[in-house]
Amino acid sequence: MEYSNILCEKDGPLATVTINRPKVLNALNYETLQELKHCFETIAGDRSTRVVILTGAGEKSFVAGADISFMRELNPLEARTFATLGQEVMNTIEGIDTPVIAAVNGFALGGGCELALACDIRIASENARFGQPEVNLGVVPGFGGTQRLPRLVGKGHACELLFSGDIIDAAEAARIGLVNRVVPQDQLLESCRQLAGRICLRGPVAVRLCKDAVNNGLEMDLARACRYEADLFAMCFASTQQQEGMSAFLEKRQPKFESEKD
Ligand code: HXC
Repeated sequence: MEYSNILCEKDGPLATVTINRPKVLNALNYETLQELKHCFETIAGDRSTRVVILTGAGEKSFVAGADISFMRELNPLEARTFATLGQEVMNTIEGIDTPVIAAVNGFALGGGCELALACDIRIASENARFGQPEVNLGVVPGFGGTQRLPRLVGKGHACELLFSGDIIDAAEAARIGLVNRVVPQDQLLESCRQLAGRICLRGPVAVRLCKDAVNNGLEMDLARACRYEADLFAMCFASTQQQEGMSAFLEKRQPKFESEKD
């Protein structure tokens, strides 16, 4: 598939996906969502990609929301189709076993905040701004924000953001746990790449199963989730990477995790 609204670049085990509609602050229209879905589904099938960084083009915005000029004319059925497509994108990002880091480089509003929420880790630049301003437009969030936001920051902070439509700065987002940390804008991508690099040094099977355990386990009760974790732990012993990791420790050397086929 040819992409017109996003860029997808590979550099060894790292893929960088950039939403590329800077004139409208990277707002998400139907085509952009279709391209994102295709891109992340392709990454899911590519074992050579070990980490993804998701960011927005330009210096001002990660994603300023779903495209309001596109949404204004929708009838109820089309609105549902649009929300469903957006949710498929978010579920794909969350559901692929490759870790996804959101490099939030500016406005992350509405669907943009929801997109960041679907990622595993969020690193923000100092100029990042977060919010769910949908109530200003007379609608509720539709890409999962009413669900992922309270799960991440707790019900009280989520309700305040959802009901007020307030926009908060990066420091406040870090304070309430919406982002992992805040870095100067000119260091954002490098900081994400360094984190990605550290993840790439670890056992690939183990990293993928950690994501699986966190995301699936959070939907279970604690006892069932811990049993699930034990099953995934056992599954690691089907990989040569477990032998390599433990042998390297005992032999006082760095592990060399070579192939993903095991
Ligand atoms: C379409 C958008 C847009 C959006 C910005 N633009 N956000 N176009 N959809 N979400 C366009 C503007 O119209 C403008 O186009 C250009 O981008 C630059 O934006 P400005 O407003 O001029 O920039 P600025 O004054 O710096 O203000 C930045 C901003 C503001 C605070 C981010 O643009 C803003 O409030 N945007 C809307 C944010 C929002 O409400 N997002 C939630 C959407 S609802 P022109 O042609 O004038 O240059 C949503 C629902 C998801 O996301 C679920 C759906 C199912």
